[in-house]
Amino acid sequence: MLFNLTEEHLMIQKAARDFANDVLKPGVIERDEHQKFPAAEIKQMGELGFLGMMVDPKYGGGGMDCISYVLAMEEISKIDASCSVVMSVNNSLVCWGLETFGTEEQKLKYLPRLATGQIIGAFCLSEPEAGSDATSQRTTAEDKGDHYILNGTKNWITNGSSASVYLVIAQTHPEKGHKGINALIVEKGMPGFVVGPKENKLGIRGSDTHSLMFDNVKVPKENRIGEDGFGFKFAMQTLTGGRIGIASQALGIASGAYELALAYSKERKAFGKTINQHQAIQFKLADMATQIEAARLLCLKAAWLKDKHLDYTTASAMAKVFSSKVAMDTTIEAVQIHGGYGFVKEFHVERLMRDAKITQIYEGTTEVQKIVISRALLA
Ligand code: CAA
Repeated sequence: MLFNLTEEHLMIQKAARDFANDVLKPGVIERDEHQKFPAAEIKQMGELGFLGMMVDPKYGGGGMDCISYVLAMEEISKIDASCSVVMSVNNSLVCWGLETFGTEEQKLKYLPRLATGQIIGAFCLSEPEAGSDATSQRTTAEDKGDHYILNGTKNWITNGSSASVYLVIAQTHPEKGHKGINALIVEKGMPGFVVGPKENKLGIRGSDTHSLMFDNVKVPKENRIGEDGFGFKFAMQTLTGGRIGIASQALGIASGAYELALAYSKERKAFGKTINQHQAIQFKLADMATQIEAARLLCLKAAWLKDKHLDYTTASAMAKVFSSKVAMDTTIEAVQIHGGYGFVKEFHVERLMRDAKITQIYEGTTEVQKIVISRALLA
């Protein structure tokens, strides 16, 4: 068993770290404050290859492994989790979903632009009454021979207004339950497709989260991904990989908060010495570092299994459930170590604490991950 990273992994990690510090950090507080989508920064991330890291180079991607993706996600998330959720959705839900299950025509049409960030994608599963209970899709895709007619509403869609390509899950044969669901590629501008208002969120405020409305949208049949009725399995398999991305995002939020707390503890003085000389703070730092290391190992294990084409369903659920808890716990302690400064925006840790919460909710809540894990244990 080897724990060392390759030269290539280290290079990718450093490139992501440098980019996050040099380009993302300067405007991150302002983007959070004003809920400003990082359009220029995302474009640059695309040009540097961060939006299609695992896509085959023949479709414009980086051809990298999932371990590289975890490393880059951690570094970007340390600084700006709003950028890293765009990165995660585009890489693991949209690009991976299309590359793994799409037709050659679909791949050639969309992947080169998605993988280079010329356009970005969105993944549309959640509905007002179908979040965790994903089989209960109310959105319908009526089969009309050579096309579908799409009707319904999707909620909390990441990249809701900035995406150009939307992978939409909808019910075609209600009598078949989850086996009647399809996944369709919808393009912005298709008549009847309307982007709803932007959500005003607690965290990841730079990312644009919207509801989407489909009113008799005509979607050609060649836009269906996989066989008729494959949509639910498409969503589940795609989300299984997506959860490695969100687990790595949570890991990055935690390690970003820890690094800030460690640095602060070396400078801040109380009772005649720096606070890192007080055991109360030392023990907090020790706990944070240990939890983060465990989260990192779970993320890397899930990625390693994926790279080896082994089953990573349980591993990705474990990585997400654990890393997101570590993100919450670590960011709360980082704010505590900063004291009053931790409560103001300039010190970054309050934002990381707010950003951490969503990692326990999207791409399958903590409770959903525990369903996935316990079912595997009891199978
Ligand atoms: N891979 C492949 N197939 C899977 C699967 C997986 N990971 N999980 C389930 N399936 C299959 C099952 O084998 C079953 O197939 P068969 O009938 O052929 O045996 C079928 O799918 C139905 O599975 P279940 O009976 O287990 O379905 P369920 O109704 O009990 O639901 C669940 C299971 C795990 C709770 C699932 O609904 C789920 O994951 N829910 C959460 C959905 C989610 O993550 N939503 C997040 C929204 S997306 C988002 O947040 C994106 C963003 O913008 C950031």
